[in-house]
Amino acid sequence: MTWRYLAIEGVDGAGKTTVAAAIAAALEGRGEAVLLVREPGGTPTGEAIRRILLHSDDSVAAWTEAMLFAASRAQLAAELVGPALEAGMRVVSDRTVYSSLAYQGGARGLGIDRVREVNEAGLQGVWPDRVLLLVVDPASGLEREDAADRISVEGIALQARVAAAYDDMARQDPERFEVVDASRPIDLVVADALAALVGP
Ligand code: TYD
Repeated sequence: MTWRYLAIEGVDGAGKTTVAAAIAAALEGRGEAVLLVREPGGTPTGEAIRRILLHSDDSVAAWTEAMLFAASRAQLAAELVGPALEAGMRVVSDRTVYSSLAYQGGARGLGIDRVREVNEAGLQGVWPDRVLLLVVDPASGLEREDAADRISVEGIALQARVAAAYDDMARQDPERFEVVDASRPIDLVVADALAALVGP
């Protein structure tokens, strides 16, 4: 278990929230100090940005969207994630910068490298050192999702492009990415994730 800052990633409805909570609980059970966060949000400023991003009826242009996700994340890094890592805690995050690379960079076509640059500016080196990618067929992910948001209502075509972007990133960075088949029952997914990221 060499990681300090773990990203839980995948298309909408892949089970990220359940798996993130299980990993945090397993670590706490071993007496480790863990910070569990979610994006977008996690701070008062970030939660205000989240409402614009996910629940506003107003139009949000693609670069506005990318920069608002990056802004919410920069606040989380400055206020919580960076200080927690400095204090020696582990951080488990339900989505991170890798969501922006997949959704805005890949699926929206803004370019993974350009979206990465904007985020690097905001994050000041606070970057996940491990990524758990939960892979599920985008159609069944959308079916499983409990509450639709402004982005998931766009439907299957966007989710398929997101899935392809995640796959490419995982192939190009196999040391950082742990890929788990999340189409199975959630307890099997959790068991695999724990075996890979927390250990026996
Ligand atoms: P989330 O609340 O995690 O929804 P879900 O539980 O359905 O995965 O994420 C909200 C939406 O925001 C989701 O459709 C993914 C999208 N998103 C981006 O497009 N870019 C980002 O950087 C992040 C963090 C999320």
